[in-house]
Amino acid sequence: MRIQVAIIGGGPSGLLLGQLLHRQGIETVILERQTRDHVLGRIRAGILEKGTASLMREAGVADRMERECLIHDGIMLSYGNDPFEINFRQLIQSSVIVYGQTELTYDLYHAREANNAKTVFGVEEVRLYNLDRPSPYVTYRHRGQDRHIDCDFIAGCDGFHGISRQSVPRSIRREYEKVYPFGWLGILSETPPVNDELIYASSERGFALCSMRNPNLSRYYIQCALSDTVHEWSDNDFWDELRRRIPASKAEALVTGPSIEKSIAPLRSFVTEPMHWGRLFLCGDAAHIVPPTGAKGLNTAVSDVNYLYLALIAHFQEGDNEGLDRYSEQALLRVWKAERFSWWFTNLMHRFPDQSQFDRKMQRAEITFLRDSTSAQTVMAQNYVGLPY
Ligand code: APR
Ligand code: PHB
Repeated sequence: MRIQVAIIGGGPSGLLLGQLLHRQGIETVILERQTRDHVLGRIRAGILEKGTASLMREAGVADRMERECLIHDGIMLSYGNDPFEINFRQLIQSSVIVYGQTELTYDLYHAREANNAKTVFGVEEVRLYNLDRPSPYVTYRHRGQDRHIDCDFIAGCDGFHGISRQSVPRSIRREYEKVYPFGWLGILSETPPVNDELIYASSERGFALCSMRNPNLSRYYIQCALSDTVHEWSDNDFWDELRRRIPASKAEALVTGPSIEKSIAPLRSFVTEPMHWGRLFLCGDAAHIVPPTGAKGLNTAVSDVNYLYLALIAHFQEGDNEGLDRYSEQALLRVWKAERFSWWFTNLMHRFPDQSQFDRKMQRAEITFLRDSTSAQTVMAQNYVGLPY
């Protein structure tokens, strides 16, 4: 089999790239290790930057998003019992969109199926060859058979645990990592959200986040120890702990119910450089991870897809390789800014195990500065709604 672009990984990065390329007449195949249901069963953040929503429109997959999304003009921050709003609309005439990553992924699969574009699920032993030559190829096993795909380019969209990143030679690859000493315990519940905007709460007992998917589906998180397991946290324990961490007026208004999903995620910052090696281009979680504070994971993946898509169409339609040559440099410039913001917001809002009283005072001073300074809020708003591409 021969194809123009082989895409490894059928998460949001691979699917969106495939859809954008399809609309320009560029042929792709997506190789996905899991089943479609498994991919769609993963619950991830649900905040879309303006740029992410625009690219969904450009990909022709925004109809349901436009109908069902919620538009948020700001977020609430609280420190102890002291909430305040960062209003994006007033500060920078902008907003974000609340639409679950699961929904976005579903819309992309739906479009891919309608286009009859090829996706192979349940692939094993994917290997990439000849990456530094004009004729790269991919091998894999599927239903016990060995398969081979010749292609012009490979997009490594296979997430943090994928093989694409490992295919860049060790002597070329530089990796930067920070692992945080806590996790987030998250639950999804069919209850009305406690507030019409997200609440990011810092308290003496640790961080909490009140988020949502729609008017009857709430997503809440609390900072937990890395050693905690979901079985140790009953729903009641979760709700009690959440109430202690958010402003009292919100704790009183909180509507609780049984969790329909409960999971713990570790927090990590990670970047690999370069994001390009020969005919291989890395996108999304394959190249970088952010802690979820600020919801930059999906949005940063989408900005990579935007640069790679434009570079590939310039190559195929005009024979212009400048975008491909500059891809890594251009993508990393924005990636590092999103890394900085997510790291800063995580450091501002969480309790760290080895934190001194001085460190706590610094956090409090920074958050009250943010509360009282329009300039600081403007910087926060610009980062939260998404930096330009
Ligand atoms: N072969 C084929 N597919 C693979 C392999 C492999 N060796 N390894 C991983 N995959 C698949 C995974 O099963 C997954 O479906 O690659 C996909 C990668 O998807 P994601 O991890 O979702 O990464 P990405 O598409 O870059 O999405 C960006 O934003 O909010 C964040 O972390 C969040 O999913 C997120 C992301
Ligand atoms: C979510 O809704 O899951 C969510 C929202 C904002 C974040 C992280 C997660 O910063």
